[in-house]
Amino acid sequence: MREIARGWRADACAIGLVPTMGALHAGHMSLVEAACRENDRVVVSVFVNPIQFGAGEDLGRYPRSPEHDLAMLRAAGVDAIYKPSVTDMYPPGSSTRVNVHGITDILEGAARPGHFEGVATVVTKLFAATSPDRAYFGQKDAQQVAVVKRLAADIDLGVEIRVCPTVREADGLALSSRNAYLDAAERQAAVCLSRALGLAAEAYGRGERNPARLQAILSEAIEAEPLARLEYAEVVDPATFAAGGSLAVLAILIGKTRLIDNHDLKLPYPG
Ligand code: PAF
Repeated sequence: MREIARGWRADACAIGLVPTMGALHAGHMSLVEAACRENDRVVVSVFVNPIQFGAGEDLGRYPRSPEHDLAMLRAAGVDAIYKPSVTDMYPPGSSTRVNVHGITDILEGAARPGHFEGVATVVTKLFAATSPDRAYFGQKDAQQVAVVKRLAADIDLGVEIRVCPTVREADGLALSSRNAYLDAAERQAAVCLSRALGLAAEAYGRGERNPARLQAILSEAIEAEPLARLEYAEVVDPATFAAGGSLAVLAILIGKTRLIDNHDLKLPYPG
Protein backbone atom coordinates (compact mmCIF):
# COMPACT_ATOMS: atom_id res chain seq x y z
CA MET A 1 0.00 0.00 0.00
CA ARG A 2 2.81 2.37 0.90
CA GLU A 3 4.50 1.73 -2.48
CA ILE A 4 1.28 2.54 -4.35
CA ALA A 5 0.73 5.71 -2.29
CA ARG A 6 4.35 6.76 -2.90
CA GLY A 7 3.78 6.41 -6.67
CA TRP A 8 0.65 8.56 -6.45
CA ARG A 9 2.54 11.19 -4.45
CA ALA A 10 5.37 11.20 -7.02
CA ASP A 11 2.72 12.02 -9.65
CA ALA A 12 1.52 14.93 -7.44
CA CYS A 13 -1.88 13.27 -6.92
CA ALA A 14 -4.05 14.24 -3.95
CA ILE A 15 -4.98 11.10 -2.00
CA GLY A 16 -8.29 10.53 -0.21
CA LEU A 17 -8.68 7.71 2.35
CA VAL A 18 -11.99 6.23 3.48
CA PRO A 19 -11.36 3.96 6.49
CA THR A 20 -14.07 1.30 6.94
CA MET A 21 -14.68 -2.01 8.64
CA GLY A 22 -16.53 -3.32 5.56
CA ALA A 23 -20.22 -4.40 5.50
CA LEU A 24 -20.59 -1.33 3.31
CA HIS A 25 -23.86 0.57 3.04
CA ALA A 26 -25.01 3.87 1.55
CA GLY A 27 -23.47 5.78 4.46
CA HIS A 28 -20.00 4.46 3.59
CA MET A 29 -20.64 5.08 -0.09
CA SER A 30 -21.43 8.74 0.58
CA LEU A 31 -17.90 9.01 2.08
CA VAL A 32 -16.46 7.27 -0.98
CA GLU A 33 -18.33 9.65 -3.32
CA ALA A 34 -17.04 12.69 -1.44
CA ALA A 35 -13.49 11.28 -1.55
CA CYS A 36 -13.76 10.65 -5.30
CA ARG A 37 -15.01 14.22 -5.88
CA GLU A 38 -12.24 15.85 -3.86
CA ASN A 39 -9.11 13.80 -4.66
CA ASP A 40 -7.13 12.45 -7.61
CA ARG A 41 -6.76 9.00 -6.05
CA VAL A 42 -9.01 7.24 -3.54
CA VAL A 43 -8.18 4.31 -1.30
CA VAL A 44 -10.77 2.54 0.85
CA SER A 45 -9.48 0.45 3.73
CA VAL A 46 -11.52 -2.55 4.83
CA PHE A 47 -10.35 -3.88 8.18
CA VAL A 48 -12.38 -5.13 11.13
CA ASN A 49 -10.06 -3.79 13.81
CA PRO A 50 -10.03 -6.25 16.71
CA ILE A 51 -8.42 -3.88 19.20
CA GLN A 52 -11.33 -1.42 19.13
CA PHE A 53 -13.77 -4.09 20.36
CA GLY A 54 -14.02 -4.76 24.11
CA ALA A 55 -14.32 -8.20 25.72
CA GLY A 56 -17.89 -9.41 25.23
CA GLU A 57 -18.56 -7.02 22.34
CA ASP A 58 -19.57 -8.12 18.83
CA LEU A 59 -16.17 -8.69 17.14
CA GLY A 60 -16.96 -12.35 16.39
CA ARG A 61 -20.30 -11.63 14.76
CA TYR A 62 -19.55 -8.22 13.22
CA PRO A 63 -21.19 -8.31 9.74
CA ARG A 64 -18.85 -9.18 6.90
CA SER A 65 -19.77 -9.01 3.19
CA PRO A 66 -16.50 -9.11 1.19
CA GLU A 67 -17.98 -9.81 -2.27
CA HIS A 68 -20.67 -7.18 -1.91
CA ASP A 69 -18.07 -4.65 -0.64
CA LEU A 70 -15.77 -5.36 -3.57
CA ALA A 71 -18.61 -4.95 -6.09
CA MET A 72 -19.71 -1.63 -4.52
CA LEU A 73 -16.15 -0.25 -4.47
CA ARG A 74 -15.43 -1.39 -8.03
CA ALA A 75 -18.66 0.25 -9.23
CA ALA A 76 -17.69 3.46 -7.43
CA GLY A 77 -14.36 3.44 -9.27
CA VAL A 78 -11.99 3.67 -6.30
CA ASP A 79 -8.28 3.35 -7.11
CA ALA A 80 -7.30 0.91 -4.36
CA ILE A 81 -8.82 -1.24 -1.66
CA TYR A 82 -6.48 -1.78 1.28
CA LYS A 83 -7.38 -4.94 3.13
CA PRO A 84 -4.66 -5.85 5.61
CA SER A 85 -4.90 -8.99 7.73
CA VAL A 86 -4.89 -8.83 11.51
CA THR A 87 -1.26 -10.00 11.56
CA ASP A 88 -0.28 -7.40 8.94
CA MET A 89 -1.62 -4.75 11.30
CA TYR A 90 -0.61 -6.28 14.62
CA PRO A 91 2.28 -8.70 14.08
CA PRO A 92 3.48 -10.69 17.07
CA GLY A 93 5.32 -8.37 19.43
CA SER A 94 3.45 -5.25 18.36
CA SER A 95 2.81 -3.27 21.56
CA THR A 96 2.37 0.40 20.64
CA ARG A 97 -0.99 2.08 21.19
CA VAL A 98 -2.11 5.63 20.45
CA ASN A 99 -4.09 7.43 23.14
CA VAL A 100 -6.02 10.67 22.89
CA HIS A 101 -6.65 11.92 26.42
CA GLY A 102 -9.71 13.52 27.98
CA ILE A 103 -12.37 13.24 25.32
CA THR A 104 -11.94 9.44 25.26
CA ASP A 105 -12.87 9.08 28.97
CA ILE A 106 -16.51 10.07 28.60
CA LEU A 107 -19.72 8.79 26.92
CA GLU A 108 -18.63 6.24 24.24
CA GLY A 109 -15.19 6.10 25.86
CA ALA A 110 -16.66 5.35 29.29
CA ALA A 111 -19.15 2.82 27.88
CA ARG A 112 -16.49 1.09 25.77
CA PRO A 113 -13.13 1.20 27.61
CA GLY A 114 -10.23 0.88 25.17
CA HIS A 115 -12.43 1.52 22.13
CA PHE A 116 -10.95 4.89 21.18
CA GLU A 117 -7.40 3.68 21.86
CA GLY A 118 -8.08 0.97 19.25
CA VAL A 119 -9.57 3.49 16.83
CA ALA A 120 -6.73 6.03 17.27
CA THR A 121 -4.11 3.30 16.84
CA VAL A 122 -5.59 1.83 13.66
CA VAL A 123 -6.32 5.25 12.15
CA THR A 124 -2.70 6.29 12.75
CA LYS A 125 -1.51 3.09 11.05
CA LEU A 126 -3.91 3.55 8.12
CA PHE A 127 -2.67 7.12 7.69
CA ALA A 128 0.94 5.88 7.77
CA ALA A 129 0.22 3.26 5.10
CA THR A 130 -1.74 5.50 2.72
CA SER A 131 -0.35 9.02 3.41
CA PRO A 132 -3.68 10.70 2.60
CA ASP A 133 -4.27 14.41 2.08
CA ARG A 134 -7.85 13.94 3.27
CA ALA A 135 -9.60 11.22 5.28
CA TYR A 136 -13.36 10.75 5.40
CA PHE A 137 -15.49 9.93 8.45
CA GLY A 138 -19.25 9.88 9.06
CA GLN A 139 -20.95 12.32 11.44
CA LYS A 140 -22.90 9.30 12.76
CA ASP A 141 -19.85 8.49 14.94
CA ALA A 142 -19.55 12.04 16.27
CA GLN A 143 -17.22 11.26 19.17
CA GLN A 144 -14.93 9.24 16.87
CA VAL A 145 -14.80 12.31 14.59
CA ALA A 146 -13.79 14.52 17.53
CA VAL A 147 -11.12 12.00 18.64
CA VAL A 148 -9.66 11.65 15.13
CA LYS A 149 -9.61 15.45 14.61
CA ARG A 150 -7.78 15.85 17.95
CA LEU A 151 -5.33 13.09 16.97
CA ALA A 152 -4.62 14.57 13.52
CA ALA A 153 -4.09 18.06 14.98
CA ASP A 154 -2.05 17.00 18.02
CA ILE A 155 0.51 14.90 16.21
CA ASP A 156 0.64 17.07 13.08
CA LEU A 157 -0.42 14.32 10.72
CA GLY A 158 -1.11 16.83 7.93
CA VAL A 159 -4.34 15.02 7.06
CA GLU A 160 -7.52 17.02 6.61
CA ILE A 161 -10.40 15.27 8.39
CA ARG A 162 -13.53 15.54 6.28
CA VAL A 163 -16.88 14.77 7.92
CA CYS A 164 -19.92 13.70 5.89
CA PRO A 165 -23.54 13.92 7.06
CA THR A 166 -25.30 10.88 8.50
CA VAL A 167 -27.28 8.95 5.90
CA ARG A 168 -30.71 7.89 7.17
CA GLU A 169 -33.45 5.44 6.20
CA ALA A 170 -36.79 6.98 5.15
CA ASP A 171 -38.07 6.71 8.76
CA GLY A 172 -34.98 8.48 10.15
CA LEU A 173 -32.92 5.52 11.39
CA ALA A 174 -29.22 6.27 10.80
CA LEU A 175 -27.54 3.68 8.57
CA SER A 176 -25.19 1.42 10.51
CA SER A 177 -23.74 -2.00 9.82
CA ARG A 178 -25.10 -3.01 13.25
CA ASN A 179 -28.72 -2.40 12.11
CA ALA A 180 -28.40 -5.88 10.57
CA TYR A 181 -28.64 -7.33 14.12
CA LEU A 182 -32.19 -5.98 14.62
CA ASP A 183 -35.25 -8.19 14.16
CA ALA A 184 -38.42 -6.64 12.70
CA ALA A 185 -39.83 -5.41 16.03
CA GLU A 186 -36.44 -4.06 17.14
CA ARG A 187 -35.97 -2.33 13.80
CA GLN A 188 -39.28 -0.51 14.30
CA ALA A 189 -38.35 0.38 17.87
CA ALA A 190 -34.97 1.79 16.78
CA VAL A 191 -36.71 4.74 15.20
CA CYS A 192 -37.02 6.19 18.74
CA LEU A 193 -33.45 7.50 18.30
CA SER A 194 -34.29 9.80 15.42
CA ARG A 195 -37.66 10.65 16.99
CA ALA A 196 -35.86 11.80 20.16
CA LEU A 197 -33.38 13.89 18.17
CA GLY A 198 -36.20 15.42 16.12
CA LEU A 199 -38.11 16.41 19.28
CA ALA A 200 -34.99 17.95 20.84
CA ALA A 201 -34.26 19.86 17.61
CA GLU A 202 -37.84 21.17 17.55
CA ALA A 203 -37.52 22.35 21.15
CA TYR A 204 -34.15 23.99 20.38
CA GLY A 205 -35.76 25.68 17.37
CA ARG A 206 -38.47 27.09 19.67
CA GLY A 207 -35.71 28.61 21.81
CA GLU A 208 -35.15 25.89 24.45
CA ARG A 209 -31.50 26.18 25.59
CA ASN A 210 -31.63 24.56 29.03
CA PRO A 211 -29.40 21.46 28.72
CA ALA A 212 -31.30 19.59 31.45
CA ARG A 213 -34.62 20.23 29.67
CA LEU A 214 -33.18 19.16 26.29
CA GLN A 215 -31.74 16.03 27.90
CA ALA A 216 -35.12 15.26 29.46
CA ILE A 217 -36.80 15.53 26.04
CA LEU A 218 -34.28 13.05 24.62
CA SER A 219 -34.59 10.59 27.54
CA GLU A 220 -38.39 10.71 27.65
CA ALA A 221 -38.62 9.89 23.92
CA ILE A 222 -36.36 6.86 24.42
CA GLU A 223 -38.11 5.74 27.60
CA ALA A 224 -41.46 5.82 25.74
CA GLU A 225 -40.20 2.92 23.61
CA PRO A 226 -40.59 -0.33 25.59
CA LEU A 227 -37.90 -2.24 23.65
CA ALA A 228 -35.25 0.45 24.14
CA ARG A 229 -32.96 0.98 27.14
CA LEU A 230 -31.25 4.35 27.46
CA GLU A 231 -27.48 4.37 28.04
CA TYR A 232 -26.98 8.09 27.78
CA ALA A 233 -28.64 11.22 26.43
CA GLU A 234 -26.50 14.35 26.60
CA VAL A 235 -26.11 17.72 24.94
CA VAL A 236 -22.41 18.46 24.42
CA ASP A 237 -19.84 20.56 22.63
CA PRO A 238 -19.10 18.85 19.28
CA ALA A 239 -15.31 19.36 19.53
CA THR A 240 -14.63 18.54 23.20
CA PHE A 241 -17.76 16.61 24.16
CA ALA A 242 -17.92 18.70 27.33
CA ALA A 243 -21.48 19.30 28.56
CA GLY A 244 -23.36 22.35 27.39
CA GLY A 245 -22.99 22.71 23.61
CA SER A 246 -25.59 22.00 20.94
CA LEU A 247 -24.76 18.44 19.87
CA ALA A 248 -27.36 15.97 21.14
CA VAL A 249 -25.82 12.50 21.53
CA LEU A 250 -27.65 9.29 22.33
CA ALA A 251 -26.75 5.67 23.02
CA ILE A 252 -29.36 2.99 23.55
CA LEU A 253 -29.65 -0.76 23.75
CA ILE A 254 -32.35 -2.59 21.84
CA GLY A 255 -32.16 -6.22 22.85
CA LYS A 256 -28.42 -6.94 22.63
CA THR A 257 -27.81 -4.30 19.96
CA ARG A 258 -26.18 -1.04 20.97
CA LEU A 259 -27.05 1.91 18.73
CA ILE A 260 -25.81 5.50 18.76
CA ASP A 261 -26.98 8.63 16.99
CA ASN A 262 -26.51 12.39 17.25
CA HIS A 263 -27.67 15.68 15.83
CA ASP A 264 -26.42 19.26 16.09
CA LEU A 265 -29.52 21.01 17.42
CA LYS A 266 -28.48 24.26 15.72
CA LEU A 267 -29.29 22.62 12.39
CA PRO A 268 -32.81 21.80 11.19
CA TYR A 269 -33.58 18.12 11.73
CA PRO A 270 -33.73 16.22 8.42
CA GLY A 271 -37.20 14.85 7.68
O1 PAF B 1 -15.89 3.89 11.92
C1 PAF B 1 -15.34 2.81 11.66
O2 PAF B 1 -15.81 2.02 10.84
C2 PAF B 1 -14.06 2.44 12.39
O3 PAF B 1 -14.07 2.88 13.70
C3 PAF B 1 -12.79 2.90 11.65
C4 PAF B 1 -12.72 4.42 11.59
C5 PAF B 1 -12.76 2.31 10.26
C6 PAF B 1 -11.54 2.42 12.41
O4 PAF B 1 -11.51 1.03 12.51
